[in-house]
Amino acid sequence: MTTIGIIGAGHIGSQIARKAVQLGYDVVIGNSRGPETLTQLVAELGPRARAATAAEAGAAADFAVVTIPLKNYKALPAEALAGKVVIDTINYYFERDGHFPELDAGEATTSGLVQAHLADSHVTKGFNHIPSGDITTSGTPAGSENRRALATASDHEDAAALVTRIYDEFGFDTVNIGPLAESWRVERDRPAYVVRQNAEELKANLAKAPRTI
Ligand SMILES: NC(=O)c1ccc[n+]([C@@H]2O[C@H](COP(=O)([O-])OP(=O)(O)OC[C@H]3O[C@@H](n4cnc5c(N)ncnc54)[C@H](OP(=O)(O)O)[C@@H]3O)[C@@H](O)[C@H]2O)c1
Repeated sequence: MTTIGIIGAGHIGSQIARKAVQLGYDVVIGNSRGPETLTQLVAELGPRARAATAAEAGAAADFAVVTIPLKNYKALPAEALAGKVVIDTINYYFERDGHFPELDAGEATTSGLVQAHLADSHVTKGFNHIPSGDITTSGTPAGSENRRALATASDHEDAAALVTRIYDEFGFDTVNIGPLAESWRVERDRPAYVVRQNAEELKANLAKAPRTI
């Protein structure tokens, strides 16, 4: 049985957990306030899920999802996540996260920052440009007409391959942007951000993205 460690139990973390347990994954989920604050969520998720600290969720993971505000990314448990694929949903909202000058200047990417912190993990961008509610409702079987597509980017082929498989199981096609250095193409306020698009539309939106906003 595969265990997904989910760090962050808000809109996105809870939705990924819901779909994951439906698909037969085991889930260990953590937040910043402690497992006792997740009683209701794990009761809803059922016997495949348990709450833990963020570090325990990382340690239990066969692969992980990190889904917290960017301002806290340096709190992610690098040691627990070492050697693992980490799907990174994190976006940059300066209104929430404060300003990151390297992001404002177009000299870095959000997932690049996460990869630098999780230096011994294989980080891949995932689920960052889909509204949380759509994760459980807008997937369709492989080969469906006009199937929704989601983007990824990674410096590690195994990580991009894993998120491609997870996207497919969740009901989405994948467009691989390439290395993390190109992942700005699907960051906030670009044409591909939080709109429903199939793979061809997503590729076109990625291609016309401006480097800075
Ligand atoms: N909402 C969306 O539709 C959406 C779509 C795509 C991507 N995103 C991005 O995905 C990330 C999560 O978004 P969200 O909407 O799910 O946020 P959210 O509802 O505010 O939830 C954030 C979660 O992160 C946890 N957290 C914060 N700091 C932490 C830390 N240091 N260690 C462990 N857990 C921590 C919070 O736990 P506590 O409550 O205990 O602090 C909470 O469970 C963000 O970067 C967001 O920009 C969001």
